[in-house]
Amino acid sequence: MSITVGSVVLKNRVFLAPMSGVSDAPFRRAAHRSGAGLVVSEMVASQELAKERPDMLRRAAGLGQVSPFVIQLAGREAVWMAEGARIATDLGADIIDINMGCPARQVTGGWSGSALMREPDLALSLIEATVKATSAPVTLKMRLGWDERCLNAPDIARKAEAAGVKMITIHGRTRCQFYKGKANWAAIRKIAEAVSIPVVANGDGDSVTDVKEMLAQSGARQ
Ligand SMILES: Cc1cc2nc3c(=O)[nH]c(=O)nc-3n(C[C@H](O)[C@H](O)[C@H](O)COP(=O)(O)O)c2cc1C
Repeated sequence: MSITVGSVVLKNRVFLAPMSGVSDAPFRRAAHRSGAGLVVSEMVASQELAKERPDMLRRAAGLGQVSPFVIQLAGREAVWMAEGARIATDLGADIIDINMGCPARQVTGGWSGSALMREPDLALSLIEATVKATSAPVTLKMRLGWDERCLNAPDIARKAEAAGVKMITIHGRTRCQFYKGKANWAAIRKIAEAVSIPVVANGDGDSVTDVKEMLAQSGARQ
């Protein structure tokens, strides 16, 4: 079954998760050749992309290698997210994904990645700036929330949809869990029920059996 992201039709519902330092261009080409319906660039820091830092330019390259071509942006200032979105569009991105899920301290310490889930108004301003800056569909990747006391992904998802986001991926952990414990697939259902755009379940999908269970528990759907 296919999924539509704005005007972009994906050939199936099996995606490669973005992984900095792992899912580089050759890895993404291999996953694409093996049938993945979507592959996403490693996280690209928007401000550093705008400053033409070589590693960010490398991460954002790849037009013509896979289709659709997705660039994932991270940042903490609307002005740089907008600039990053403009550059990514010029580089040929078919879809721009916003990273609000990275738990790493060097990222959250700068109020990027999952730290934005603690600042929903700021998060929304970045989403709005990104959507406004590009004609490409914008998608969002986030976690369930910052910690067990702040499970605000459904609220952010609703606001993101209203701001024009076309698909949301949820990693079924909180930021404070980092990569530990087990992803809570059932908790993703609250986000799937909050919006009408496609919701992608992510985390601990290690086998076909896992993925079937993940879809059943999460209600992730087109
Ligand atoms: C080494 C590594 C790098 C990652 N880099 C990114 C990234 O750049 N952008 C992003 O959105 N998520 C990133 N993630 C998170 C994954 O996309 C995914 O959400 C997470 O690994 C949960 O899936 P899993 O339980 O199957 O590993 C990374 C994960 C790992 C392990």
